[in-house]
Amino acid sequence: MTRPAPKSFHVKSFGCQMNAYDGARMAELLEAQGLTAADSPEAAELIVLNTCHIREKAAEKVYSDIGRIVKRAEGGKPMIAVAGCVAQAEGAEIPHRAPAVDIVVGPQAYHNLPQLVADAAAGKRALDTDMPAASKFDVLPKRRRQGPSAFLTVQEGCDKFCTYCVVPYTRGAEISRPWRAIVDEAKALVDAGAREITLLGQNVNAWSGEDEKGRAQGLDGLIRELDTLPGLDRIRYTTSHPNDMSDGLIAAHGDVAKLMPFLHLPVQAGSDRILKAMNRSHDVASYLRLIERVRAVRPDIAVSGDFIVGFPGETEADFEETLAVVRQVEHAFAFSFKYSPRPGTPAATMAEQIDPDVMDDRLQRLQALLNEQQHGFNLATVGKRCEVLIERDGKRPGQRIGKSPWLQSVIVEDGPAIGELVTVYIVAAGPNSINAVIAERQAA
Ligand code: SAH
Ligand code: SF4
Ligand code: F3S
Repeated sequence: MTRPAPKSFHVKSFGCQMNAYDGARMAELLEAQGLTAADSPEAAELIVLNTCHIREKAAEKVYSDIGRIVKRAEGGKPMIAVAGCVAQAEGAEIPHRAPAVDIVVGPQAYHNLPQLVADAAAGKRALDTDMPAASKFDVLPKRRRQGPSAFLTVQEGCDKFCTYCVVPYTRGAEISRPWRAIVDEAKALVDAGAREITLLGQNVNAWSGEDEKGRAQGLDGLIRELDTLPGLDRIRYTTSHPNDMSDGLIAAHGDVAKLMPFLHLPVQAGSDRILKAMNRSHDVASYLRLIERVRAVRPDIAVSGDFIVGFPGETEADFEETLAVVRQVEHAFAFSFKYSPRPGTPAATMAEQIDPDVMDDRLQRLQALLNEQQHGFNLATVGKRCEVLIERDGKRPGQRIGKSPWLQSVIVEDGPAIGELVTVYIVAAGPNSINAVIAERQAA
């Protein structure tokens, strides 16, 4: 059955920042094809669900979303594309289970979205989960229309194969984008209004490449290059793996002015036995040494992490070791999750899966501690003077919200403009945000 080609679209991204980046690039691609961004998801003739497969709940979300879209569509269902990691993991299973889906496109194939839309409109099967050798980045349109803070994917995929994780299967093998392509994209982002760039990768600190002179470089070299980019004020990167935390990258935290004092370095668990079963290939002591070394060069660095509770075989004693590591490190921020068995991963078939009630209890105890630490970190910044990059409007008139160097959400009074980098005094702190007043303004 043929149908008219869609004229408007809406992209909804779930999951990690890499997905948010892909979502932005899909939107740019569709706009370059002459489609317009719909004012609301309800008004879109094409809906792209850019999905995440990391935990069962995330993966199931796509099906409830599809159900909702179909239900509310009165004058004919919009064209539905499933992109992202569920698309890669489940492929043709998706239209089988949810026949309302017209297009399935994986994270390494979304540059083919215009063709897939045309195929779907022509009533043809539209599925592409290839992981071609040629990079999608080479054919995507140039970056444009940025907010003050932008994402830039520099590395994709993962070779680490932690036993609980789907990413090596959904995103493929580790690849690093070339130096020149990254520097060019960073320039385009700055020209389009970005003042802060967050370099992204599933293991971003595994990035490696060659600079213009053919010298081997790591992520620290790339950061130093971007440090020289006029108009760029702040650099961040995420997510890092402890094993790829090089001496050079640690040193960069001490002497690259634009590199913000924030490090997301997941440890996952505090028991060496569990880390081994997870195939993390680092232990607690080596992780703690890394944190110590980064703090030695940048004492105010905000440390963040990810934790999994209830990995198969985790005992109460193992879990208490996780709490002990958290107490030792003192986090500014962290994500924590109940272990979710993922199809095809080794941990899913391990013996001794943990009872859900036990997981709930451990997650609650861990989160209570992490929340307390986050609040403590925020309270310790009260009275400090720092810069805030204003990103959006706040709730009340005159309020704006931006980010501190330590990635805290800051509510600023006195209505600075979006995109302004203002110097503030922090006057109050809650568990999730801090309040500040302007001390000095600089030109936007
Ligand atoms: N590459 C990053 C993390 C990517 S996934 C790293 O290695 O640190 C983001 C987080 O999701 C992981 O750090 C982990 O804490 C969590 N996660 C991954 N698989 C999971 C699973 N099966 N169940 C619960 N949490 C999981
Ligand atoms: Fe997943 Fe481990 Fe790779 Fe991170 S390092 S993406 S947790 S397999
Ligand atoms: Fe999810 Fe894929 Fe990111 S599984 S966390 S969207 S890499």
